[in-house]
Amino acid sequence: MSASPAPLVPEWLRAPSDANALDGAIWPGSARRDGDGALEIGGVSALQLRERFGTPLYVLDEDDVRVHARRALAAFSDAAARHGGRARVYYAGKALLTTDVVRWVLEEGLRVDVCSAGELAVALAAGADPALLGFHGNNKSGPALERAVDAGVGSVIVDSAIEIERLSAVAERRGVVQPVLVRVRTGVHAETHAFLATAHEDQKFGFALDDVPPVVARIRELPSLHFTGLHAHIGSQIFEADGFRASAARLVELHAELLAGGDIPLLNLGGGFGIAYTAADRPLPIEEIATGIVDAVADECAVRGIRLPELAFEPGRAIVGQAGVTLYEAGTIKPVRVTDDLTRVYVSVDGGMSDNARPALYGAQYSARLASRVSDEPPALVRVVGHHCESGDIVVDAEYLPGDVAPGDLVAVPATGAYCFSLSSTYNYTPRPAVVAVREGEARVLVRRETIEDLLRRDTGAHSDEGISMAARSETK
Ligand code: LLP
Repeated sequence: MSASPAPLVPEWLRAPSDANALDGAIWPGSARRDGDGALEIGGVSALQLRERFGTPLYVLDEDDVRVHARRALAAFSDAAARHGGRARVYYAGKALLTTDVVRWVLEEGLRVDVCSAGELAVALAAGADPALLGFHGNNKSGPALERAVDAGVGSVIVDSAIEIERLSAVAERRGVVQPVLVRVRTGVHAETHAFLATAHEDQKFGFALDDVPPVVARIRELPSLHFTGLHAHIGSQIFEADGFRASAARLVELHAELLAGGDIPLLNLGGGFGIAYTAADRPLPIEEIATGIVDAVADECAVRGIRLPELAFEPGRAIVGQAGVTLYEAGTIKPVRVTDDLTRVYVSVDGGMSDNARPALYGAQYSARLASRVSDEPPALVRVVGHHCESGDIVVDAEYLPGDVAPGDLVAVPATGAYCFSLSSTYNYTPRPAVVAVREGEARVLVRRETIEDLLRRDTGAHSDEGISMAARSETK
């Protein structure tokens, strides 16, 4: 197989000098090649992982999650401490939520933010202290609000006037006072994919800046709610501090205005801190982002002569993104003639848009490496695709793999810890992969692989023993 001609190579992609190398900015901290050249994560070989758990497989480096959690907490706490303030960090569970992940981040001193009744249930099932939870959502259901209030969730981030009345009624019936934050659209359009930006005007989240004062006044009137602060989240996969700084300035102005009506202990600036998916991505280190935002808030507070409130942040991707690697097995390899002169090599793997919807949803770019071995063959441009019945079922749009990539090879895609498992689907009746944690040479299942039988059990027409056992017989993994 020869390298594809340049016209098929995206402008940002460079041919690697070594197509087996693992870029430390993208792969988990423990990723390396073992003596036989196989990828090893958390001291466990990819070959062993395939043998024990099958593919596709989400592999999560526990220590890497912990390191990123500690680092984020230290970054924001240190930045706040330099101004005599304090910061708390909520892990945004929507990025990847399992009970173990909840326990890890709690052990590292983080809190957890959840955004549905289901996520709340996972956090509570993990044994999280409800006081350490934040609860988000633009349409929280009545039962979810009841559950949150009953559990004693530390803050509910309210998103609409209707919700405020609903939540107040629930808290009143229960005879409790529920702390709330108010989600604000600061009007800052983050530099990211349109679907990942959340604080510009024409979208569903929060209250416009001008609408906030009467909303807060209403909350302050309600004896069953306690207004504790403003919240804004400007978007996701953001690389620079500028958007955060602009949003923070507007929030502090509003915060200062609202102080006339009483103390406000908190200010929550959301998450959205970007990570590297390919060698072309250069996110600022979290320490620099933290300093940039916190300094901006502290400066704004100083200008207005107000006290720096306790700050809160909600990173999701920055905690788990780099810790995750998806292992696939290559099935078919096909040269596809794109024009008379250009051929693109398609490597089809046994997963796809059902385990990673991000390329299809956002045009997200990823990278890939052979995981079962190293090879000295010159690198060839390939597109890694899934097994689903859609041409947009792309796993890695453009990457160089050793030119002898072959059926049966393991292909590993790094930086899949965030928004892959949590966005996974069963499209084409594809059971979802297991999530396996690796650490110090041990592998442990966090979430077991789904089976076709699991899926068929929900189909009421298949509830005969015969139907289910047929399903079991057709299982491949
Ligand atoms: N806080 C709030 C209120 C959020 O809505 C989000 C993400 C976060 C924090 C965490 O953002 P992070 O630090 O993970 O960027 N599915 C998309 C991302 C959607 C993010 C939704 N909200 C993706 O795969 O890129």
